[in-house]
Amino acid sequence: MLNNKSILITGGTGSLGKALTAHILKNYPEIKRLVILSRDEQKQFQMAQEYPNHLYPQIRFFIGDVRDRERLIRAFQGVDYVIHAAAMKHVPIAEYNPDECVKTNIHGAQNVIEACLANNVERVVALSTDKACAPINLYGATKLASDKLFVAANNIRGASPIRFSVVRYGNVMGSNGSVIPFFINKKKEGVLPITDENMTRFNISLQGGVDMVMHALFNAWGGEIFIPKIPSYRITDIAEAIAPECEHKVIGIRPGEKVHEEMITPSDSFYTYDLGKYYTILPAVPNWKLDDFLKEFDGKKVADGFAYNSGTNTEWETVESLRTLIKEHVDSTFEV
Ligand SMILES: NC(=O)c1ccc[n+]([C@@H]2O[C@H](COP(=O)([O-])OP(=O)(O)OC[C@H]3O[C@@H](n4cnc5c(N)ncnc54)[C@H](OP(=O)(O)O)[C@@H]3O)[C@@H](O)[C@H]2O)c1
Repeated sequence: MLNNKSILITGGTGSLGKALTAHILKNYPEIKRLVILSRDEQKQFQMAQEYPNHLYPQIRFFIGDVRDRERLIRAFQGVDYVIHAAAMKHVPIAEYNPDECVKTNIHGAQNVIEACLANNVERVVALSTDKACAPINLYGATKLASDKLFVAANNIRGASPIRFSVVRYGNVMGSNGSVIPFFINKKKEGVLPITDENMTRFNISLQGGVDMVMHALFNAWGGEIFIPKIPSYRITDIAEAIAPECEHKVIGIRPGEKVHEEMITPSDSFYTYDLGKYYTILPAVPNWKLDDFLKEFDGKKVADGFAYNSGTNTEWETVESLRTLIKEHVDSTFEV
């Protein structure tokens, strides 16, 4: 499906962007062009060393800021598929610099949509987060606004066959700035800071995130928010898995944090369908026939009032399974 297609990843030098790049170049070497768009030339320079032009002639690096609509319109020329992964994603930084987060996550989303519409892009997948579900911090609120923009963009496509969809998931194991590398680094100090001993999070590997994005790219009809079924972990189990010898210092929940994350609230349940490996929240009025969609994907409506919450999840990682996952996905030299 990607053969002879051109694909662009905003935020292509980030954790997910790099994992997507590796996945696409390995599995779809016949791709016409893979464009990485981001701001920092240094990160692009480093990534270009991993993909030398004589071995990977498909890859292009494009400096650009999603806040700059004209630049996106130029970058998206001849592009068939866009994956929008660029974002400001640190909760405390967004709380402190709200207008910057709004510019990147909301205005940036609208610019991506406009640049896609201006260039006859066929498919667009935007990244969301569990923090966008009933948000209590600005990062989550901006991602919710972004989700709404992408879902509604299907209504302004006119005669274009473009499909916009969203992928929402929880903490990506080992991604930039996440808890596992943070604890591994802190271990040598003998004390791990724990925000709240009851805290739980949804857990997904980078490859799990890549698979979800590729699924959305290939299968979306337009307007879906795709949510993978993934396990939760307790923050205290992560601490135990990484450094059983360390003391825990409870430092209190940080501004804008929840004790448990949510991906589907009871209010979303009225529009939520179980697709087997995934849930999907559908637009209230999709621009295709719901019955056809449910037949195609064997979709079943969840019970009214259903919630998907990391604290009441039915699937859990254990200390042992976390150790195996850390070794597999984060640090192959990891030892307790
Ligand atoms: N990591 C997680 O746990 C997680 C969980 C759920 C959802 N998500 C979502 O998944 C997406 C990718 O996350 P990630 O972990 O890969 O993030 P990341 O590692 O922080 O990467 C972010 C990427 O976006 C680029 N970027 C930031 N601001 C930009 C701007 N204004 N214009 C253009 N590029 C910009 C960055 O490069 P430059 O700084 O060089 O521009 C970088 O390439 C985000 O939308 C995030 O909200 C992440």
